[in-house]
Amino acid sequence: MCLKLILISASILSVVAPSSVHERDEVLRIFPRNAEDVRFLTTMDEEQGLSLDFWKFPSGPDNIADVHVQKAHLPLVKDALKRQGIPFNVLVDDVGEALHQHMRTNRMSRALSRMRRDENFDFSVYHTYKEITDHMRHLATNYPDIASIMSVAGTYEGRSIMTIKLGKPFSNGTVKPAFWIDGAIHSREWIVPATIIYAVDRLVRQYGSDPTVTRILDGLDLYVTPVFNVDGYVYTWQSDDTRLWRKNRAPQAGPCVGVDMNRNWDSHWSEGGSSHDPCNWAYHGTAPFSEQETREISTFIWENRRDIRAYIAFHSYSQVWMAPWGHSYNRPPGDAGAQDALGRLAVETIKSVHGVDYVAGRAMETLYQVSGDSQDWTYDKAGIKYSYIAELRDTGRYAFLLPPDQILPTAEEIFPSILTVGEWILDHY
Ligand SMILES: *[C@@H]1O[C@H](CO)[C@@H](O)[C@H](O)[C@H]1NC(C)=O
Ligand SMILES: [Zn+2]
Repeated sequence: MCLKLILISASILSVVAPSSVHERDEVLRIFPRNAEDVRFLTTMDEEQGLSLDFWKFPSGPDNIADVHVQKAHLPLVKDALKRQGIPFNVLVDDVGEALHQHMRTNRMSRALSRMRRDENFDFSVYHTYKEITDHMRHLATNYPDIASIMSVAGTYEGRSIMTIKLGKPFSNGTVKPAFWIDGAIHSREWIVPATIIYAVDRLVRQYGSDPTVTRILDGLDLYVTPVFNVDGYVYTWQSDDTRLWRKNRAPQAGPCVGVDMNRNWDSHWSEGGSSHDPCNWAYHGTAPFSEQETREISTFIWENRRDIRAYIAFHSYSQVWMAPWGHSYNRPPGDAGAQDALGRLAVETIKSVHGVDYVAGRAMETLYQVSGDSQDWTYDKAGIKYSYIAELRDTGRYAFLLPPDQILPTAEEIFPSILTVGEWILDHY
């Protein structure tokens, strides 16, 4: 066992860093001072074809923007920022190296996990899509009264998107109120599926022993889709170079691939905070619901809209819990009070676990403008009042490359917030 461990470590560590397409790329943290700075940042990309990858989009003077800049474009971008007088610093000084570190830690933690040969599923490491779906199937097989596997959508590359349905059917056979959760519509946000499958596991195993879990599964049906962007997620596992992939994998006109599926929904589509350029990381697609994944998932939500009382899309990073709207500063009259109250309760619950602060608010206020995002559609079109986007850890230190030792703490603080939402909708209908 020890010798094997040493051999494994040696073989993992001795691998010479492969040259990465992201070698010496940087992530800049930018501090826009006013609306003009924000406009400058958003247009800089489009006008000069820099294929800037905003890890965090520019929104307003109070909000930082993080942007991944390719090595070749660094002098130009830094010069432009300096000339404009926009303050910035370097958040990641070598994206290729950060990726390499992250992937090495990932391989190492998985190798150690396999060697422990614990028969329980290991939630402290990242899992491939196959491992995730195998475990969801395992739960459904072992807890058939409260868990079943379904799929309401397929992907461009022909995969099926797994959804696990949780809940004890009403004995009188009537349809139950429901709660939809999805994650990883942006494939590089690995902490999201890791957090969601932990919650599913806890819900299933604590049914019958934990009163809150029991009440929620008795009163509600939960539809949980741990990985929305399956093709993208599979792609991020291929190599260091693909780890940061965000969009789906559908080829577009021209040289570029993929649509940002959180800009592709049929609500205020293409009205800001998205791009018409297929090479852009926030490309909204050729039309609302041009993508099979968003079209089919939204169809299921639409057909069940009268029963679905809450919708949460999990993303990372930033540690914020956001209510509608994403596309404008307006607070929905009538609903904003209740949406905010539940949002505040959710972040209080999160903080009570490990003391970590998440901010409750609205996308435009706390993060940045998005249009054609899932949350706006589920609220605007499907009429789901409690529609949220929750961005998990961290606030930028590791960003999408969150090390495995933060998986369990994140999952532990998010699980009770899911219970909070479940209880709220049982109490408020
Ligand atoms: C069916 O049972 C549930 C849970 O006990 C109850 O809330 C609901 O009102 C019942 N529906 C009908 C039509 O009896
Ligand atoms: Zn995201």
